[in-house]
Amino acid sequence: MNLGTTMMNIDELRQLTIQRRSIRGYDESREVSEEAIRAILECARWAPSGGNGQPWEFIIVRDQTTRHKIADIYLKQLEPKREMDLAVRGTAKMTGDGFRHAPVHIIILGDPRVKEAYPIRTKLEKADSHFITGLANVTLLIHLAAASLGLASQYVSDANSPYMETLLKAMLKIPEPLRIYHLVPIGYAKGNFATPPRRELDEIVHFEQYDMNKYRDDTAMERFINTLTLQGSYGKGR
Ligand SMILES: Cc1cc2nc3c(=O)[nH]c(=O)nc-3n(C[C@H](O)[C@H](O)[C@H](O)COP(=O)(O)O)c2cc1C
Repeated sequence: MNLGTTMMNIDELRQLTIQRRSIRGYDESREVSEEAIRAILECARWAPSGGNGQPWEFIIVRDQTTRHKIADIYLKQLEPKREMDLAVRGTAKMTGDGFRHAPVHIIILGDPRVKEAYPIRTKLEKADSHFITGLANVTLLIHLAAASLGLASQYVSDANSPYMETLLKAMLKIPEPLRIYHLVPIGYAKGNFATPPRRELDEIVHFEQYDMNKYRDDTAMERFINTLTLQGSYGKGR
Protein backbone atom coordinates (compact mmCIF):
# COMPACT_ATOMS: atom_id res chain seq x y z
CA MET A 1 0.00 0.00 0.00
CA ASN A 2 1.34 3.44 -0.88
CA LEU A 3 0.65 5.62 2.15
CA GLY A 4 1.99 8.72 0.40
CA THR A 5 -0.93 9.17 -1.98
CA THR A 6 -4.40 10.37 -1.08
CA MET A 7 -7.63 9.88 -2.98
CA MET A 8 -9.59 12.60 -1.27
CA ASN A 9 -8.39 15.97 -0.07
CA ILE A 10 -9.31 17.43 3.30
CA ASP A 11 -11.79 19.92 1.84
CA GLU A 12 -13.69 17.05 0.22
CA LEU A 13 -13.60 15.10 3.46
CA ARG A 14 -14.85 18.12 5.43
CA GLN A 15 -17.60 18.63 2.85
CA LEU A 16 -18.63 15.02 3.31
CA THR A 17 -18.75 15.39 7.10
CA ILE A 18 -21.00 18.44 6.67
CA GLN A 19 -23.14 16.72 4.03
CA ARG A 20 -23.81 13.79 6.38
CA ARG A 21 -26.78 14.64 8.55
CA SER A 22 -29.20 12.57 10.60
CA ILE A 23 -32.25 12.32 8.36
CA ARG A 24 -35.62 11.39 9.83
CA GLY A 25 -37.81 11.37 6.71
CA TYR A 26 -37.39 9.00 3.75
CA ASP A 27 -38.91 8.58 0.31
CA GLU A 28 -40.19 4.99 0.30
CA SER A 29 -40.72 5.02 -3.46
CA ARG A 30 -37.00 5.41 -4.20
CA GLU A 31 -35.09 2.16 -4.01
CA VAL A 32 -31.48 1.87 -2.95
CA SER A 33 -29.48 -0.54 -5.07
CA GLU A 34 -27.78 -3.66 -3.79
CA GLU A 35 -24.59 -2.25 -5.27
CA ALA A 36 -24.86 0.91 -3.14
CA ILE A 37 -25.39 -1.07 0.08
CA ARG A 38 -22.47 -3.30 -0.79
CA ALA A 39 -20.25 -0.30 -1.49
CA ILE A 40 -21.24 1.28 1.85
CA LEU A 41 -20.44 -1.86 3.83
CA GLU A 42 -17.25 -2.40 1.86
CA CYS A 43 -16.06 0.98 3.24
CA ALA A 44 -17.39 0.35 6.71
CA ARG A 45 -15.59 -2.93 7.25
CA TRP A 46 -12.29 -1.02 7.20
CA ALA A 47 -13.22 0.70 10.45
CA PRO A 48 -10.69 0.50 13.28
CA SER A 49 -11.53 -1.75 16.23
CA GLY A 50 -9.82 -2.75 19.48
CA GLY A 51 -7.37 -5.61 18.81
CA ASN A 52 -8.74 -5.64 15.24
CA GLY A 53 -11.56 -7.67 16.78
CA GLN A 54 -14.03 -6.42 14.11
CA PRO A 55 -17.08 -7.05 16.29
CA TRP A 56 -19.55 -6.16 13.53
CA GLU A 57 -21.96 -8.09 11.33
CA PHE A 58 -24.94 -6.67 9.48
CA ILE A 59 -28.48 -7.70 8.63
CA ILE A 60 -29.93 -5.94 5.60
CA VAL A 61 -33.71 -5.71 5.78
CA ARG A 62 -35.58 -4.61 2.67
CA ASP A 63 -38.88 -6.40 3.16
CA GLN A 64 -41.52 -3.72 3.73
CA THR A 65 -43.60 -5.75 6.18
CA THR A 66 -40.55 -6.48 8.32
CA ARG A 67 -39.42 -2.83 8.23
CA HIS A 68 -42.82 -1.63 9.35
CA LYS A 69 -42.92 -4.27 12.10
CA ILE A 70 -39.55 -3.00 13.31
CA ALA A 71 -40.91 0.56 13.38
CA ASP A 72 -44.02 -0.59 15.29
CA ILE A 73 -41.80 -2.25 17.91
CA TYR A 74 -39.82 1.00 18.07
CA LEU A 75 -43.00 3.02 18.68
CA LYS A 76 -44.08 0.67 21.46
CA GLN A 77 -40.77 0.91 23.32
CA LEU A 78 -40.98 4.68 22.98
CA GLU A 79 -44.07 4.84 25.22
CA PRO A 80 -42.35 4.30 28.62
CA LYS A 81 -39.37 6.32 27.41
CA ARG A 82 -41.64 9.27 26.71
CA GLU A 83 -43.47 8.75 29.99
CA MET A 84 -40.17 8.88 31.89
CA ASP A 85 -39.17 12.19 30.32
CA LEU A 86 -42.61 13.65 30.90
CA ALA A 87 -42.48 12.61 34.57
CA VAL A 88 -39.03 14.05 35.20
CA ARG A 89 -38.79 16.99 32.77
CA GLY A 90 -42.40 17.75 31.99
CA THR A 91 -41.56 17.53 28.30
CA ALA A 92 -40.53 14.71 25.97
CA LYS A 93 -38.57 15.17 22.75
CA MET A 94 -38.36 11.83 21.02
CA THR A 95 -37.44 11.01 17.46
CA GLY A 96 -40.34 9.57 15.46
CA ASP A 97 -40.72 6.48 13.33
CA GLY A 98 -40.02 8.12 9.94
CA PHE A 99 -37.28 5.54 9.37
CA ARG A 100 -39.97 2.93 8.58
CA HIS A 101 -40.09 4.45 5.08
CA ALA A 102 -36.37 4.04 4.39
CA PRO A 103 -36.15 1.19 1.84
CA VAL A 104 -33.21 -0.42 3.62
CA HIS A 105 -32.66 -1.03 7.31
CA ILE A 106 -29.15 -2.07 8.30
CA ILE A 107 -29.12 -3.78 11.69
CA ILE A 108 -25.64 -3.50 13.13
CA LEU A 109 -24.76 -6.50 15.25
CA GLY A 110 -21.88 -6.86 17.67
CA ASP A 111 -20.32 -10.13 18.74
CA PRO A 112 -18.99 -9.68 22.29
CA ARG A 113 -16.89 -12.83 22.00
CA VAL A 114 -14.28 -10.70 20.16
CA LYS A 115 -13.31 -9.32 23.57
CA GLU A 116 -10.93 -12.30 23.66
CA ALA A 117 -8.88 -10.42 21.04
CA TYR A 118 -7.91 -7.79 23.64
CA PRO A 119 -4.88 -8.10 25.92
CA ILE A 120 -5.90 -9.45 29.35
CA ARG A 121 -5.61 -6.11 31.17
CA THR A 122 -7.56 -4.35 28.43
CA LYS A 123 -10.20 -7.07 28.64
CA LEU A 124 -10.49 -6.57 32.40
CA GLU A 125 -10.47 -2.78 32.29
CA LYS A 126 -12.32 -1.77 29.17
CA ALA A 127 -13.70 -4.68 27.22
CA ASP A 128 -17.13 -3.07 27.01
CA SER A 129 -15.93 0.35 25.89
CA HIS A 130 -13.57 -1.13 23.27
CA PHE A 131 -16.39 -3.31 21.96
CA ILE A 132 -18.75 -0.32 21.69
CA THR A 133 -16.09 1.95 20.18
CA GLY A 134 -15.50 -0.52 17.33
CA LEU A 135 -19.22 -0.64 16.65
CA ALA A 136 -19.44 3.16 16.80
CA ASN A 137 -16.61 3.44 14.27
CA VAL A 138 -18.22 1.06 11.79
CA THR A 139 -21.52 2.91 12.20
CA LEU A 140 -19.98 6.29 11.46
CA LEU A 141 -18.33 4.92 8.33
CA ILE A 142 -21.70 3.60 7.17
CA HIS A 143 -23.17 7.09 7.56
CA LEU A 144 -20.27 8.75 5.74
CA ALA A 145 -20.23 6.23 2.92
CA ALA A 146 -23.99 6.64 2.48
CA ALA A 147 -23.61 10.43 2.40
CA SER A 148 -20.89 10.12 -0.25
CA LEU A 149 -23.48 8.40 -2.47
CA GLY A 150 -26.06 11.13 -1.84
CA LEU A 151 -28.02 8.79 0.45
CA ALA A 152 -29.66 9.70 3.74
CA SER A 153 -29.16 7.78 6.98
CA GLN A 154 -29.91 8.01 10.66
CA TYR A 155 -29.16 6.41 14.00
CA VAL A 156 -31.91 4.37 15.62
CA SER A 157 -30.10 3.65 18.85
CA ASP A 158 -33.21 2.43 20.66
CA ALA A 159 -32.76 -0.76 18.62
CA ASN A 160 -30.71 -1.99 21.59
CA SER A 161 -33.16 -1.03 24.30
CA PRO A 162 -34.00 -4.29 26.15
CA TYR A 163 -37.52 -4.61 24.72
CA MET A 164 -36.64 -3.75 21.13
CA GLU A 165 -33.45 -5.81 21.07
CA THR A 166 -35.25 -8.87 22.47
CA LEU A 167 -38.07 -8.67 19.93
CA LEU A 168 -35.77 -7.94 16.98
CA LYS A 169 -33.45 -10.79 17.92
CA ALA A 170 -36.38 -13.22 17.97
CA MET A 171 -37.93 -11.86 14.78
CA LEU A 172 -34.67 -11.81 12.79
CA LYS A 173 -33.35 -15.08 14.26
CA ILE A 174 -30.19 -13.48 15.63
CA PRO A 175 -28.11 -16.03 17.62
CA GLU A 176 -27.95 -15.52 21.39
CA PRO A 177 -24.40 -14.26 21.97
CA LEU A 178 -24.75 -11.48 19.41
CA ARG A 179 -25.98 -8.04 20.45
CA ILE A 180 -27.85 -5.46 18.45
CA TYR A 181 -25.92 -2.20 18.46
CA HIS A 182 -27.90 0.24 16.32
CA LEU A 183 -30.24 0.22 13.38
CA VAL A 184 -29.26 2.48 10.48
CA PRO A 185 -31.92 3.19 7.86
CA ILE A 186 -30.67 4.09 4.39
CA GLY A 187 -32.71 5.82 1.71
CA TYR A 188 -33.36 9.10 -0.04
CA ALA A 189 -34.30 12.06 2.11
CA LYS A 190 -37.84 13.38 1.98
CA GLY A 191 -38.73 16.82 3.31
CA ASN A 192 -36.49 19.41 4.88
CA PHE A 193 -33.85 18.66 7.42
CA ALA A 194 -31.80 20.91 9.61
CA THR A 195 -28.07 21.14 10.17
CA PRO A 196 -27.65 20.91 13.94
CA PRO A 197 -25.18 23.51 15.17
CA ARG A 198 -21.75 22.61 16.47
CA ARG A 199 -19.71 24.33 19.14
CA GLU A 200 -17.15 26.71 17.63
CA LEU A 201 -13.64 25.34 17.17
CA ASP A 202 -12.12 28.07 19.34
CA GLU A 203 -14.36 27.06 22.22
CA ILE A 204 -13.30 23.43 22.25
CA VAL A 205 -9.58 23.50 21.50
CA HIS A 206 -6.94 24.18 24.16
CA PHE A 207 -3.27 24.72 23.45
CA GLU A 208 -0.57 23.12 25.58
CA GLN A 209 -2.77 23.08 28.67
CA TYR A 210 -6.42 23.44 29.58
CA ASP A 211 -7.49 27.08 29.19
CA MET A 212 -9.77 27.82 32.15
CA ASN A 213 -11.19 30.82 30.26
CA LYS A 214 -12.91 28.23 28.11
CA TYR A 215 -14.17 26.15 31.00
CA ARG A 216 -17.97 26.12 31.14
CA ASP A 217 -19.46 26.76 34.54
CA ASP A 218 -22.82 25.24 35.42
CA THR A 219 -24.72 28.25 34.05
CA ALA A 220 -22.90 28.09 30.72
CA MET A 221 -23.46 24.34 30.54
CA GLU A 222 -27.16 24.74 31.25
CA ARG A 223 -27.39 27.42 28.53
CA PHE A 224 -25.68 25.03 26.11
CA ILE A 225 -28.03 22.15 26.90
CA ASN A 226 -31.02 24.46 26.58
CA THR A 227 -30.02 25.89 23.22
CA LEU A 228 -27.73 23.86 20.99
CA THR A 229 -28.67 20.27 21.89
CA LEU A 230 -31.71 18.22 20.96
CA GLN A 231 -32.99 18.62 24.53
CA GLY A 232 -32.83 22.36 24.04
CA SER A 233 -34.56 24.83 21.79
CA TYR A 234 -32.69 23.48 18.78
CA GLY A 235 -34.45 20.14 19.20
CA LYS A 236 -37.90 21.70 18.94
CA GLY A 237 -37.68 21.88 15.18
CA ARG A 238 -36.63 18.32 14.49
C1 LIG B 1 -24.74 7.26 19.93
C2 LIG B 1 -25.77 8.01 19.14
C3 LIG B 1 -27.10 7.70 19.29
C4 LIG B 1 -28.08 8.38 18.54
N1 LIG B 1 -29.38 7.98 18.61
C5 LIG B 1 -30.28 8.53 17.79
C6 LIG B 1 -31.60 8.01 17.69
O1 LIG B 1 -31.94 7.03 18.35
N2 LIG B 1 -32.47 8.61 16.84
C7 LIG B 1 -32.10 9.67 16.07
O2 LIG B 1 -32.92 10.15 15.30
N3 LIG B 1 -30.85 10.18 16.14
C8 LIG B 1 -29.94 9.64 16.95
N4 LIG B 1 -28.66 10.10 16.97
C9 LIG B 1 -28.30 11.23 16.10
C10 LIG B 1 -28.04 12.51 16.86
O3 LIG B 1 -29.25 13.02 17.36
C11 LIG B 1 -27.39 13.46 15.87
O4 LIG B 1 -26.17 12.94 15.46
C12 LIG B 1 -27.17 14.86 16.45
O5 LIG B 1 -28.39 15.46 16.78
C13 LIG B 1 -26.44 15.74 15.44
O6 LIG B 1 -27.14 15.76 14.22
P1 LIG B 1 -26.45 15.31 12.87
O7 LIG B 1 -26.21 13.84 12.95
O8 LIG B 1 -27.44 15.67 11.79
O9 LIG B 1 -25.19 16.06 12.76
C14 LIG B 1 -27.68 9.44 17.68
C15 LIG B 1 -26.33 9.73 17.54
C16 LIG B 1 -25.38 9.02 18.23
C17 LIG B 1 -23.92 9.31 17.99
